Amino acid sequence: MNGLKWSRKDLISTENLTLAEINQIFSMADVFKASLKTDKAKLPYLNGKVVVNLFFEPSTRTRTAFEMAAHKLGADVISIATNVSSSVKGESLKDTARNIEALMADMIIVRHSSSGAAKYLADRVKVPVINAGDGAHAHPTQALLDAFTMREKFNGDFKGKKITILGDILFSRVARSNIYLLNKLGAKVTLAGPSTLVPMEFEKMGVKVSYNLAEAVADADVVMLLRIQHERQSATHFPSISEYANVFGLNLRRENLLKKDAFIMHPGPINRGVELDSPLADSGRSVILNQVTNGVAVRMAVMNLCMHATK
Ligand code: CP
Repeated sequence: MNGLKWSRKDLISTENLTLAEINQIFSMADVFKASLKTDKAKLPYLNGKVVVNLFFEPSTRTRTAFEMAAHKLGADVISIATNVSSSVKGESLKDTARNIEALMADMIIVRHSSSGAAKYLADRVKVPVINAGDGAHAHPTQALLDAFTMREKFNGDFKGKKITILGDILFSRVARSNIYLLNKLGAKVTLAGPSTLVPMEFEKMGVKVSYNLAEAVADADVVMLLRIQHERQSATHFPSISEYANVFGLNLRRENLLKKDAFIMHPGPINRGVELDSPLADSGRSVILNQVTNGVAVRMAVMNLCMHATK
């Protein structure tokens, strides 16, 4: 499997990924997903390697999935709790990473609140750096696992499929990473939510913008909900959470706006009762937990490819 050609040391964004690279990740993730279902033994692709998880922001899914993926590939994993690391004593991101490299780490997975932090690191260390989310910029493995989950539902064919991403688009690295990926795969993307959180400028990315929930979801094959990212907002973008839920929340009362076979996605964490109500989040339409499971196989593929990149 490692005979495949892959030349990226790092995965920072989906913006520059080619369709061939995306399909390469998906094909490898298919193989890893099958092995996860049938084989309890570890695969040997990262035997003897040490992967360091460096998360400066909270995470449940991404961090655990990267740890699982590394373990499944035979690597040792060290997760650094940044709240008790020397970064709280003023050590810079660059110094932290270069010290981790000096300790003989073979790969760094980084999440940071600043857009550009992952690229900044990748340019300063020799080992592969995988972006696990940097500010509002990018969350490439989230978008890859989202698209991988859609691909399973679409039997591999994205042509003409309509994806509506609903919620806080402005502050969402998940939305940006999905837009780049879904455009390349041939899907049609609509962004929806309050105008303060979905600026018209996004149309320059080749997507449609809508401020009308009923119109935005009417012909969607997938509705992807995003939570309001209060941690990135310095001003109020809508009157109140309850007003947001009243106007843009997806609930049982609004289920009849969806196509019969439309399915629901969410990168997590869900704010139940705000962007999405529990009866829909836990319904047969929801593939939210499939996304989480697929995150392990997709991250195994990304880690394996970047670790064995050839120039
Ligand atoms: N989707 C996502 O990034 O979730 P976590 O913040 O739990 O990693």
